[in-house]
Amino acid sequence: MREVCGAGAPLGRRGACPYTACPYTGAAAPSTVSWNCASSTSADTIEGMSVDTEVAQAAYTPIRAPRGSQITCKSWQQEAAMRMLMNNLDEEVGERPQDLVVYGGTGRAARSWEAYRAIIATLKTLENDETLLVQSGKPVGVLKTHEYAPRVLIANSNLVGHWSNWEKFNELERAGLMMYGQMTAGSWIYIGSQGIVEGTFETFSAAGEKHFGGDLAGKLIVSGGMGGMGGAQPLAATMTGAAFLGIDVDPERIKKRLKTGYCDFMVNTLDEALRILKNAVRKKENVSVGLVGNCADLIPELAERGVVPDILTDQTSAHDPLNGYVPNGMSLAEALELRKRDPKAYEEKSLDAMARHVEGMLRLQKMGAVTFDYGNNIRTFAFQRGVKNAYDFPGFVPAYIRPLFCEGRGPFRWVALSGEPSDIAVTDDLVLELFPDNRILRRWIELARKRIKFQGLPARICWLGYGERAQFGLAMNELVKKGKIKAPIVIGRDHLDCGSVASPFRETESMKDGSDAVADWPILNALVNTAAGASWVSVHNGGGVGIGYSLHAGQVTVADGTEMMAKRIERVLTTDPGMGVLRHVDAGYDEAKAFAQEKGVKVPMGKGAVGR
Ligand SMILES: NC(=O)c1ccc[n+]([C@@H]2O[C@H](COP(=O)([O-])OP(=O)(O)OC[C@H]3O[C@@H](n4cnc5c(N)ncnc54)[C@H](O)[C@@H]3O)[C@@H](O)[C@H]2O)c1
Repeated sequence: MREVCGAGAPLGRRGACPYTACPYTGAAAPSTVSWNCASSTSADTIEGMSVDTEVAQAAYTPIRAPRGSQITCKSWQQEAAMRMLMNNLDEEVGERPQDLVVYGGTGRAARSWEAYRAIIATLKTLENDETLLVQSGKPVGVLKTHEYAPRVLIANSNLVGHWSNWEKFNELERAGLMMYGQMTAGSWIYIGSQGIVEGTFETFSAAGEKHFGGDLAGKLIVSGGMGGMGGAQPLAATMTGAAFLGIDVDPERIKKRLKTGYCDFMVNTLDEALRILKNAVRKKENVSVGLVGNCADLIPELAERGVVPDILTDQTSAHDPLNGYVPNGMSLAEALELRKRDPKAYEEKSLDAMARHVEGMLRLQKMGAVTFDYGNNIRTFAFQRGVKNAYDFPGFVPAYIRPLFCEGRGPFRWVALSGEPSDIAVTDDLVLELFPDNRILRRWIELARKRIKFQGLPARICWLGYGERAQFGLAMNELVKKGKIKAPIVIGRDHLDCGSVASPFRETESMKDGSDAVADWPILNALVNTAAGASWVSVHNGGGVGIGYSLHAGQVTVADGTEMMAKRIERVLTTDPGMGVLRHVDAGYDEAKAFAQEKGVKVPMGKGAVGR
């Protein structure tokens, strides 16, 4: 017979009740309830881990990661994990830190405030031969490993295949058993909108190269969503020379982009927006406008009016029909109220709105707009809602990014733990010095230095490939060792990378050999990066496309100037992009085969790379 607590929850080991509201009765759980209804103190101990058992009702206080070269953890590895978790929740960085939400709908850094505090407390006492395990944002244990092992291993939002859907996930999340980790939110390497500015810049530039001879001056890019990721679009678009119209239903999101200098104007009507943009296009000025409104209304209206963008895409949080996308036909406040009151009705309206939105995109595509899905899975939801030709426009990866993946290229990023912008300036110089012939990199770094405002800890991103990442990582470790920068550097990447993700509607859409849904690759990526000695490694489900639609892995490695980290950096920054090369060799891409041969990447059964 299963034992239950007084409220009906199954009995676990003795410890604090993990719920703020009882999942069985729905009643608010008093802070004194424990799993076995024994009396609990305010600081119960679970397997040696001191856990604050108060229910997190304390007032929210803004978080800011410590700066400088003094540490409060037992080494820079733990200190870096702690600072990066805090940095994800810095008000300058995260979208809704008071709810622990970093970006991408409900992408969280920790499951609850109790879990957050327990992670921080554990990192502070974690030994240099121990590894903290985090399960969907909650610290569940500390195990003895060894010095070269990751200090933190993270698994977020993973469900057994058959149950891997939003319905089951939402049920488990409501029961306090899981959280949505997005990609870099739950793996503590989100760096604000800059992280995606460069990827968006690469994508718009690639579209410009392919369709407009590399010149986007005098062209109009239109997209939806100005949130954590989507907020990078206006800046990335103007950096390519284009004019930009971004539509968001939430004026606060647009205001945030004005504040950071990512967007130039905010307007409330399409007429106003078009007045500014027609003028800009005529004069070839790179101007960006944020328009408050719903894409499900405004995209079809553009088609109705015959206003055809040169490039059209979308970054509303369509991957999540309930907690992300906002339906049309009602105000934002009414939508938020409906979401709370009647989630089912909300979801129905949300899916209807996505269908109207995609129909509008398809009409504009027919009228000549270069149209692509920007990784939020909107085509799939529209298709499920009866838009049979939803996949007539491609995803951005097969359209523009895959050739880069074949060379192990992807969004490489680094963060100055000192908090000093001057440290990033030194690394900017270094990357330009190491790769003088990379034209796109040079253009990006030069523009980024002028136009990117740091959010939270100063950071930089650029796309680097196999070989380059290890070379640059080692050189940064040398900078730390020689005291040329003030504190260690965190080196990580997005999960959207060459060999770390299985996502049939995004990164692995239309793979040459049909292996789009094969999810062994991200698992192998996490395993090999753990074996190679990354500082923390994570495996997630869902990311930008939603529960059940992707599995993906992340790694972060800390350059602290030591010999040990030099070895680990060289290994990890070779194994990690190496997975991208292997993935694409295995799928039969000639570019990847040639690259593997040139660089001596060993492929036992490479279709043509070695042996065949
Ligand atoms: N392309 C990529 O590389 C990439 C990377 C990460 C995430 N994503 C995906 O992109 C999407 C956006 O991510 P984010 O971090 O910006 O999410 P976010 O939740 O921070 O922002 C989404 C924005 O969309 C707005 N919105 C929702 N429905 C709308 C509607 N009908 N009309 C107008 N505005 C609407 C919201 O107000 C919000 O500001 C997500 O689906 C995310 O998973 C893509």
